[in-house]
Amino acid sequence: MISPFTSSASVPAKKTVFITGVAGFLGSHLADALLKQGHRVLGCDNLIGGYMDNVPAGVEFFDLDCLDRSAMVVAMRGVDIVYHCACTAHEGLSVFSPHLITQNTFGITTSVLSAAIVNKVQRFVFCSSIARYGTQPVFPFTEEMTPQPQDPYGIAKYACELMIKELCGVHGMEYVIAAPHNIIGPRQKYDDPYRNVASIMINLMLQGRQPIIYGDGEQKRCFSFISDVIDPLVKMGTQSNVVGEVINVGPDEEFITVNQLAQEIATLLKFDLKPIYMPDRPREVRFASSSADKARRLLGYRTSTSLQEGLQSIIDYVKTRGTKSFDYGLKIEIVSDKTPRAWKDRLF
Ligand SMILES: NC(=O)c1ccc[n+]([C@@H]2O[C@H](COP(=O)([O-])OP(=O)(O)OC[C@H]3O[C@@H](n4cnc5c(N)ncnc54)[C@H](O)[C@@H]3O)[C@@H](O)[C@H]2O)c1
Repeated sequence: MISPFTSSASVPAKKTVFITGVAGFLGSHLADALLKQGHRVLGCDNLIGGYMDNVPAGVEFFDLDCLDRSAMVVAMRGVDIVYHCACTAHEGLSVFSPHLITQNTFGITTSVLSAAIVNKVQRFVFCSSIARYGTQPVFPFTEEMTPQPQDPYGIAKYACELMIKELCGVHGMEYVIAAPHNIIGPRQKYDDPYRNVASIMINLMLQGRQPIIYGDGEQKRCFSFISDVIDPLVKMGTQSNVVGEVINVGPDEEFITVNQLAQEIATLLKFDLKPIYMPDRPREVRFASSSADKARRLLGYRTSTSLQEGLQSIIDYVKTRGTKSFDYGLKIEIVSDKTPRAWKDRLF
Protein backbone atom coordinates (compact mmCIF):
# COMPACT_ATOMS: atom_id res chain seq x y z
CA MET A 1 0.00 0.00 0.00
CA ILE A 2 1.22 3.54 -0.72
CA SER A 3 2.20 5.40 2.43
CA PRO A 4 0.25 8.64 2.53
CA PHE A 5 2.06 9.78 5.63
CA THR A 6 5.19 11.31 4.20
CA SER A 7 5.50 15.01 3.59
CA SER A 8 8.38 16.82 1.93
CA ALA A 9 7.32 20.05 3.60
CA SER A 10 9.89 21.26 6.10
CA VAL A 11 8.85 23.24 9.11
CA PRO A 12 11.48 25.46 10.71
CA ALA A 13 10.56 25.27 14.39
CA LYS A 14 8.61 22.84 16.51
CA LYS A 15 5.12 24.12 17.16
CA THR A 16 2.05 23.17 19.14
CA VAL A 17 -0.63 22.41 16.60
CA PHE A 18 -4.36 21.81 17.16
CA ILE A 19 -6.37 19.90 14.55
CA THR A 20 -10.17 19.90 14.67
CA GLY A 21 -11.68 16.76 13.15
CA VAL A 22 -8.52 14.77 13.92
CA ALA A 23 -10.39 11.43 13.71
CA GLY A 24 -11.42 12.29 10.17
CA PHE A 25 -9.72 11.50 6.90
CA LEU A 26 -7.79 14.72 6.29
CA GLY A 27 -7.24 15.59 9.96
CA SER A 28 -5.69 12.24 10.84
CA HIS A 29 -3.27 12.24 7.90
CA LEU A 30 -2.30 15.82 8.71
CA ALA A 31 -1.63 14.76 12.31
CA ASP A 32 0.66 11.98 11.09
CA ALA A 33 2.69 14.36 8.94
CA LEU A 34 3.02 16.97 11.70
CA LEU A 35 3.97 14.40 14.35
CA LYS A 36 6.59 13.07 11.98
CA GLN A 37 8.10 16.55 11.81
CA GLY A 38 8.35 16.62 15.60
CA HIS A 39 5.51 18.97 16.43
CA ARG A 40 3.25 18.58 19.45
CA VAL A 41 -0.17 17.69 18.04
CA LEU A 42 -3.46 18.11 19.86
CA GLY A 43 -6.84 17.51 18.31
CA CYS A 44 -10.54 17.09 18.89
CA ASP A 45 -13.38 15.19 17.30
CA ASN A 46 -16.97 14.39 18.26
CA LEU A 47 -16.96 11.29 16.01
CA ILE A 48 -20.01 12.32 14.02
CA GLY A 49 -17.86 11.19 11.07
CA GLY A 50 -14.36 9.70 10.86
CA TYR A 51 -13.18 6.67 12.83
CA MET A 52 -11.59 6.67 16.28
CA ASP A 53 -8.85 4.29 15.06
CA ASN A 54 -7.80 6.99 12.56
CA VAL A 55 -6.33 9.10 15.38
CA PRO A 56 -2.56 8.54 15.31
CA ALA A 57 -0.76 7.51 18.47
CA GLY A 58 0.96 10.61 19.79
CA VAL A 59 -2.01 12.94 19.31
CA GLU A 60 -3.36 14.46 22.54
CA PHE A 61 -7.01 13.75 21.84
CA PHE A 62 -10.09 15.60 23.12
CA ASP A 63 -13.46 13.93 22.63
CA LEU A 64 -15.10 17.27 22.09
CA ASP A 65 -17.73 18.95 19.96
CA CYS A 66 -16.31 22.11 18.40
CA LEU A 67 -19.59 23.86 19.21
CA ASP A 68 -18.63 23.71 22.89
CA ARG A 69 -16.69 26.96 22.81
CA SER A 70 -15.79 27.05 26.50
CA ALA A 71 -14.24 23.58 26.30
CA MET A 72 -12.44 24.55 23.08
CA VAL A 73 -10.91 27.57 24.85
CA VAL A 74 -9.44 25.25 27.47
CA ALA A 75 -8.33 22.56 24.98
CA MET A 76 -6.53 25.12 22.79
CA ARG A 77 -4.36 26.68 25.50
CA GLY A 78 -0.77 27.25 24.38
CA VAL A 79 -1.51 26.41 20.74
CA ASP A 80 0.48 28.11 17.93
CA ILE A 81 -1.33 26.85 14.83
CA VAL A 82 -4.91 25.65 14.32
CA TYR A 83 -5.94 23.48 11.38
CA HIS A 84 -9.71 23.59 11.28
CA CYS A 85 -10.74 20.42 9.44
CA ALA A 86 -13.88 19.46 11.39
CA CYS A 87 -17.04 19.58 9.35
CA THR A 88 -19.93 17.50 8.11
CA ALA A 89 -18.69 17.98 4.56
CA HIS A 90 -21.85 16.63 2.95
CA GLU A 91 -22.49 18.78 -0.07
CA GLY A 92 -25.33 16.70 -1.57
CA LEU A 93 -27.03 16.08 1.77
CA SER A 94 -26.79 19.76 2.69
CA VAL A 95 -29.76 20.53 0.42
CA PHE A 96 -31.87 18.18 2.55
CA SER A 97 -30.24 18.71 5.98
CA PRO A 98 -29.31 22.40 5.81
CA HIS A 99 -29.54 23.00 9.55
CA LEU A 100 -27.23 20.13 10.52
CA ILE A 101 -24.66 20.83 7.81
CA THR A 102 -24.62 24.60 8.38
CA GLN A 103 -24.25 24.17 12.14
CA ASN A 104 -21.37 21.73 11.63
CA THR A 105 -19.70 23.99 9.09
CA PHE A 106 -20.38 27.62 9.95
CA GLY A 107 -21.52 27.28 13.59
CA ILE A 108 -18.47 25.31 14.65
CA THR A 109 -16.13 27.67 12.79
CA THR A 110 -17.29 30.69 14.80
CA SER A 111 -16.70 28.67 17.98
CA VAL A 112 -13.22 27.45 16.98
CA LEU A 113 -12.24 30.91 15.70
CA SER A 114 -13.34 32.59 18.91
CA ALA A 115 -11.43 30.07 21.04
CA ALA A 116 -8.32 30.47 18.85
CA ILE A 117 -8.37 34.27 19.13
CA VAL A 118 -8.77 34.15 22.92
CA ASN A 119 -5.74 31.84 23.05
CA LYS A 120 -3.68 34.20 20.86
CA VAL A 121 -3.12 31.51 18.25
CA GLN A 122 -0.63 32.67 15.66
CA ARG A 123 -2.15 31.11 12.54
CA PHE A 124 -5.52 29.65 11.55
CA VAL A 125 -5.59 27.31 8.55
CA PHE A 126 -9.11 26.67 7.31
CA CYS A 127 -10.23 23.79 5.10
CA SER A 128 -12.76 25.35 2.78
CA SER A 129 -13.84 23.55 -0.38
CA ILE A 130 -14.11 23.79 -4.14
CA ALA A 131 -17.86 24.06 -3.35
CA ARG A 132 -17.14 27.76 -2.66
CA TYR A 133 -17.07 28.35 -6.44
CA GLY A 134 -20.43 26.79 -7.33
CA THR A 135 -20.99 26.94 -11.08
CA GLN A 136 -18.72 29.40 -12.89
CA PRO A 137 -18.77 30.42 -16.55
CA VAL A 138 -15.06 29.62 -17.02
CA PHE A 139 -12.85 26.62 -16.18
CA PRO A 140 -10.74 25.89 -14.31
CA PHE A 141 -11.77 27.84 -11.21
CA THR A 142 -9.14 30.33 -10.05
CA GLU A 143 -8.90 31.92 -6.63
CA GLU A 144 -9.75 35.46 -7.74
CA MET A 145 -13.16 34.41 -9.12
CA THR A 146 -16.14 35.63 -7.13
CA PRO A 147 -17.48 32.63 -5.21
CA GLN A 148 -21.01 31.62 -6.20
CA PRO A 149 -21.74 28.65 -3.94
CA GLN A 150 -24.99 26.95 -4.86
CA ASP A 151 -25.80 24.66 -1.95
CA PRO A 152 -25.90 25.09 1.85
CA TYR A 153 -22.51 23.41 2.32
CA GLY A 154 -20.76 25.71 -0.16
CA ILE A 155 -22.60 28.74 1.18
CA ALA A 156 -21.59 27.85 4.75
CA LYS A 157 -17.94 27.34 3.72
CA TYR A 158 -17.83 30.72 2.01
CA ALA A 159 -19.52 32.35 5.01
CA CYS A 160 -16.75 30.83 7.17
CA GLU A 161 -14.12 32.38 4.92
CA LEU A 162 -15.73 35.82 5.26
CA MET A 163 -15.95 35.42 9.03
CA ILE A 164 -12.30 34.32 9.24
CA LYS A 165 -11.09 37.29 7.19
CA GLU A 166 -13.14 39.67 9.28
CA LEU A 167 -12.16 38.40 12.72
CA CYS A 168 -8.52 37.76 11.85
CA GLY A 169 -8.31 41.31 10.52
CA VAL A 170 -9.70 42.79 13.72
CA HIS A 171 -7.77 40.59 16.15
CA GLY A 172 -4.50 40.18 14.31
CA MET A 173 -4.45 36.40 13.76
CA GLU A 174 -2.84 35.09 10.56
CA TYR A 175 -5.03 32.93 8.34
CA VAL A 176 -4.77 30.79 5.25
CA ILE A 177 -7.71 29.28 3.38
CA ALA A 178 -7.27 25.97 1.56
CA ALA A 179 -9.85 25.04 -1.07
CA PRO A 180 -9.39 21.32 -1.77
CA HIS A 181 -11.48 19.29 -4.16
CA ASN A 182 -12.31 15.60 -4.14
CA ILE A 183 -9.65 13.87 -2.09
CA ILE A 184 -9.33 10.11 -1.91
CA GLY A 185 -7.31 7.69 0.17
CA PRO A 186 -7.30 5.27 3.07
CA ARG A 187 -9.09 6.32 6.28
CA GLN A 188 -11.90 7.99 4.37
CA LYS A 189 -15.27 6.94 5.77
CA TYR A 190 -16.47 4.26 3.34
CA ASP A 191 -19.76 3.43 5.07
CA ASP A 192 -21.22 6.92 4.71
CA PRO A 193 -24.07 6.77 2.17
CA TYR A 194 -23.99 10.53 1.58
CA ARG A 195 -20.42 11.27 0.50
CA ASN A 196 -17.03 9.88 -0.64
CA VAL A 197 -18.04 8.40 -4.00
CA ALA A 198 -14.90 6.31 -4.63
CA SER A 199 -14.91 4.75 -1.15
CA ILE A 200 -18.65 4.01 -1.37
CA MET A 201 -18.21 2.29 -4.74
CA ILE A 202 -15.32 0.22 -3.42
CA ASN A 203 -17.28 -0.81 -0.30
CA LEU A 204 -20.24 -1.83 -2.49
CA MET A 205 -18.27 -3.69 -5.17
CA LEU A 206 -16.26 -5.59 -2.56
CA GLN A 207 -19.64 -6.78 -1.25
CA GLY A 208 -20.54 -7.89 -4.77
CA ARG A 209 -23.05 -5.03 -5.06
CA GLN A 210 -23.53 -2.63 -7.99
CA PRO A 211 -22.76 1.08 -7.46
CA ILE A 212 -25.52 3.67 -7.65
CA ILE A 213 -24.85 6.59 -10.01
CA TYR A 214 -26.91 9.79 -9.97
CA GLY A 215 -27.94 11.28 -13.32
CA ASP A 216 -26.12 10.09 -16.45
CA GLY A 217 -22.78 9.70 -14.66
CA GLU A 218 -21.09 12.18 -16.99
CA GLN A 219 -20.39 14.65 -14.16
CA LYS A 220 -16.64 15.40 -14.32
CA ARG A 221 -14.34 15.47 -11.33
CA CYS A 222 -10.63 15.53 -10.53
CA PHE A 223 -9.43 13.44 -7.58
CA SER A 224 -6.37 14.10 -5.45
CA PHE A 225 -4.60 11.45 -3.43
CA ILE A 226 -4.33 12.33 0.24
CA SER A 227 -0.52 12.64 0.40
CA ASP A 228 -0.59 15.19 -2.43
CA VAL A 229 -2.92 17.34 -0.32
CA ILE A 230 -1.16 16.95 3.03
CA ASP A 231 2.14 18.35 1.79
CA PRO A 232 0.72 21.80 0.80
CA LEU A 233 -1.50 21.87 3.90
CA VAL A 234 1.51 21.39 6.16
CA LYS A 235 3.28 24.26 4.40
CA MET A 236 0.23 26.50 4.85
CA GLY A 237 0.81 26.30 8.59
CA THR A 238 4.19 28.03 8.54
CA GLN A 239 5.21 29.56 5.22
CA SER A 240 5.14 33.36 5.34
CA ASN A 241 4.17 33.82 1.66
CA VAL A 242 0.67 32.37 2.09
CA VAL A 243 -0.77 34.51 4.89
CA GLY A 244 -4.21 35.87 3.97
CA GLU A 245 -4.38 33.77 0.79
CA VAL A 246 -7.05 31.46 -0.59
CA ILE A 247 -5.32 28.55 -2.34
CA ASN A 248 -6.88 25.75 -4.36
CA VAL A 249 -5.45 22.36 -3.49
CA GLY A 250 -5.81 19.55 -5.94
CA PRO A 251 -4.80 18.55 -9.44
CA ASP A 252 -5.97 20.16 -12.64
CA GLU A 253 -5.18 17.06 -14.68
CA GLU A 254 -6.65 13.53 -15.01
CA PHE A 255 -10.33 14.56 -15.26
CA ILE A 256 -12.69 11.67 -14.94
CA THR A 257 -16.43 11.17 -15.15
CA VAL A 258 -18.29 9.27 -12.45
CA ASN A 259 -18.97 6.54 -15.04
CA GLN A 260 -15.23 6.24 -15.75
CA LEU A 261 -14.47 6.19 -12.02
CA ALA A 262 -16.84 3.25 -11.53
CA GLN A 263 -15.17 1.46 -14.47
CA GLU A 264 -11.64 2.08 -13.10
CA ILE A 265 -12.62 0.57 -9.76
CA ALA A 266 -14.42 -2.34 -11.41
CA THR A 267 -11.33 -3.07 -13.51
CA LEU A 268 -9.08 -3.08 -10.44
CA LEU A 269 -11.52 -5.43 -8.67
CA LYS A 270 -12.28 -7.54 -11.78
CA PHE A 271 -15.94 -6.74 -11.08
CA ASP A 272 -18.71 -7.13 -13.67
CA LEU A 273 -20.01 -3.56 -13.63
CA LYS A 274 -23.69 -2.78 -14.28
CA PRO A 275 -24.31 0.52 -12.44
CA ILE A 276 -27.76 1.39 -11.14
CA TYR A 277 -28.73 4.82 -12.48
CA MET A 278 -30.93 7.12 -10.38
CA PRO A 279 -32.19 10.68 -11.06
CA ASP A 280 -29.80 13.64 -10.66
CA ARG A 281 -29.29 15.07 -7.20
CA PRO A 282 -30.59 18.66 -6.93
CA ARG A 283 -27.87 21.32 -7.19
CA GLU A 284 -25.07 18.89 -8.04
CA VAL A 285 -22.30 20.76 -9.88
CA ARG A 286 -21.78 19.15 -13.30
CA PHE A 287 -18.16 20.03 -13.89
CA ALA A 288 -15.88 20.99 -11.03
CA SER A 289 -12.27 21.76 -11.78
CA SER A 290 -9.92 24.21 -10.12
CA SER A 291 -6.58 25.59 -11.20
CA ALA A 292 -3.54 24.46 -9.23
CA ASP A 293 -1.31 27.27 -10.58
CA LYS A 294 -1.29 29.29 -7.36
CA ALA A 295 -0.53 26.21 -5.24
CA ARG A 296 2.32 25.30 -7.61
CA ARG A 297 3.70 28.85 -7.40
CA LEU A 298 3.39 29.42 -3.65
CA LEU A 299 3.68 25.91 -2.24
CA GLY A 300 5.58 23.91 -4.84
CA TYR A 301 2.45 21.77 -5.25
CA ARG A 302 2.70 18.71 -7.47
CA THR A 303 0.90 15.43 -7.85
CA SER A 304 2.81 12.25 -7.26
CA THR A 305 0.15 9.56 -7.10
CA SER A 306 -2.00 8.45 -10.02
CA LEU A 307 -5.73 7.89 -9.67
CA GLN A 308 -5.24 4.17 -10.20
CA GLU A 309 -2.63 3.93 -7.42
CA GLY A 310 -4.88 5.94 -5.13
CA LEU A 311 -7.89 3.72 -5.79
CA GLN A 312 -5.79 0.60 -5.21
CA SER A 313 -4.69 1.90 -1.82
CA ILE A 314 -8.34 2.42 -0.77
CA ILE A 315 -9.17 -1.09 -1.95
CA ASP A 316 -6.33 -2.45 0.21
CA TYR A 317 -7.54 -0.39 3.17
CA VAL A 318 -11.18 -1.52 2.94
CA LYS A 319 -10.09 -5.13 2.45
CA THR A 320 -7.91 -4.94 5.57
CA ARG A 321 -10.63 -3.36 7.70
CA GLY A 322 -13.49 -5.31 6.16
CA THR A 323 -16.50 -4.07 4.22
CA LYS A 324 -19.27 -2.40 6.21
CA SER A 325 -22.99 -1.83 5.97
CA PHE A 326 -23.89 1.83 5.52
CA ASP A 327 -24.35 4.17 8.46
CA TYR A 328 -27.45 6.38 8.13
CA GLY A 329 -26.72 8.24 11.37
CA LEU A 330 -27.00 11.71 9.86
CA LYS A 331 -30.63 12.77 9.87
CA ILE A 332 -32.38 13.84 6.65
CA GLU A 333 -34.31 16.95 7.72
CA ILE A 334 -36.33 17.45 4.55
CA VAL A 335 -37.87 14.33 3.07
CA SER A 336 -39.72 15.15 -0.14
CA ASP A 337 -40.08 13.94 -3.71
CA LYS A 338 -36.74 15.66 -4.41
CA THR A 339 -34.81 13.65 -1.79
CA PRO A 340 -32.76 10.95 -3.53
CA ARG A 341 -34.55 7.61 -3.21
CA ALA A 342 -31.21 5.92 -2.51
CA TRP A 343 -31.16 7.82 0.80
CA LYS A 344 -34.88 7.79 1.67
CA ASP A 345 -35.19 4.07 1.03
CA ARG A 346 -31.67 3.29 2.29
CA LEU A 347 -30.67 1.51 -0.90
CA PHE A 348 -26.93 1.49 -0.17
N1 LIG B 1 -12.38 14.96 1.54
C1 LIG B 1 -12.59 15.82 0.57
O1 LIG B 1 -12.69 15.42 -0.60
C2 LIG B 1 -12.69 17.30 0.84
C3 LIG B 1 -12.79 18.16 -0.24
C4 LIG B 1 -12.89 19.54 0.00
C5 LIG B 1 -12.87 20.01 1.30
N2 LIG B 1 -12.78 19.14 2.33
C6 LIG B 1 -12.80 19.70 3.69
O2 LIG B 1 -11.74 19.12 4.43
C7 LIG B 1 -12.14 18.94 5.79
C8 LIG B 1 -11.93 17.49 6.19
O3 LIG B 1 -12.71 16.65 5.36
P1 LIG B 1 -12.64 15.08 5.51
O4 LIG B 1 -12.91 14.51 4.18
O5 LIG B 1 -11.43 14.71 6.24
O6 LIG B 1 -13.94 14.81 6.39
P2 LIG B 1 -14.14 13.74 7.56
O7 LIG B 1 -15.61 13.63 7.76
O8 LIG B 1 -13.38 12.51 7.30
O9 LIG B 1 -13.49 14.48 8.81
C9 LIG B 1 -14.15 15.50 9.51
C10 LIG B 1 -14.11 15.15 10.98
O10 LIG B 1 -14.74 16.23 11.69
C11 LIG B 1 -15.45 15.68 12.77
N3 LIG B 1 -16.50 16.63 13.18
C12 LIG B 1 -17.59 17.03 12.49
N4 LIG B 1 -18.30 17.91 13.21
C13 LIG B 1 -17.64 18.07 14.38
C14 LIG B 1 -17.87 18.84 15.55
N5 LIG B 1 -18.96 19.61 15.65
N6 LIG B 1 -16.99 18.77 16.56
C15 LIG B 1 -15.90 17.96 16.47
N7 LIG B 1 -15.62 17.21 15.41
C16 LIG B 1 -16.48 17.26 14.37
C17 LIG B 1 -16.02 14.38 12.22
O11 LIG B 1 -16.32 13.46 13.24
C18 LIG B 1 -14.88 13.88 11.32
O12 LIG B 1 -14.05 12.97 12.00
C19 LIG B 1 -13.59 19.38 5.88
O13 LIG B 1 -13.64 20.68 6.38
C20 LIG B 1 -14.07 19.34 4.44
O14 LIG B 1 -15.09 20.27 4.22
C21 LIG B 1 -12.69 17.80 2.14
